[in-house]
Amino acid sequence: MIVGIVAISKNGAIGKDGALPWHYPADLKYFKETTTGNTVVMGSTTWRSIGRPLPDRRNVVFTNSKNLVVPEGVIIANDRLDVLKLDTEPWKDIYIIGGAKTYEAFRDLIEKWLVTEIPIDVPDADTFFDLSLLDGFEVRDALEFDDGMTIKSMLPPID
Ligand SMILES: NC(=O)c1ccc[n+]([C@@H]2O[C@H](COP(=O)([O-])OP(=O)(O)OC[C@H]3O[C@@H](n4cnc5c(N)ncnc54)[C@H](OP(=O)(O)O)[C@@H]3O)[C@@H](O)[C@H]2O)c1
Repeated sequence: MIVGIVAISKNGAIGKDGALPWHYPADLKYFKETTTGNTVVMGSTTWRSIGRPLPDRRNVVFTNSKNLVVPEGVIIANDRLDVLKLDTEPWKDIYIIGGAKTYEAFRDLIEKWLVTEIPIDVPDADTFFDLSLLDGFEVRDALEFDDGMTIKSMLPPID
């Protein structure tokens, strides 16, 4: 399954200056637990922002570049087919982990969304999530946290 996973502020922000403009440990824990053992696909900007391969996951960097240098074991994908061709064993699901340009590139392939609602506004953010990517999905499950954060699991409606 191809799953989009994103954390979005109240005003639709996802990033600022190449990083996450908040610190919500419960969201980072959820992200780690959810993606471990799976493939994570990230745009080259997000890759540079994280700065290292995410452990215990198959890391894929999405880039137009043919000569991006990455550590051994990290996979370069120059187009969506490179991602779709990946073996699903032993790395199970494919998580599209951002950022905005990468969600957009995979929009019609994403079968499920995991959306963290961050309960703050980030008016000076520079990267925003296109909420129309969630059109055609409905909330099936929601986890609420003490700090006001909510994580929603979204799937297409059942016919
Ligand atoms: N809140 C969240 O959940 C979340 C998650 C992830 C990231 N973020 C934030 O989002 C921001 C980065 O997002 P972004 O949209 O600027 O960048 P991004 O999606 O991380 O990376 C963009 C890069 O991906 C590559 N790319 C995109 N579309 C492509 C295509 N169709 N074919 C081949 N390569 C393609 C290009 O790399 P090349 O330029 O190398 O060709 C492009 O410059 C950062 O602030 C980050 O912290 C937030």
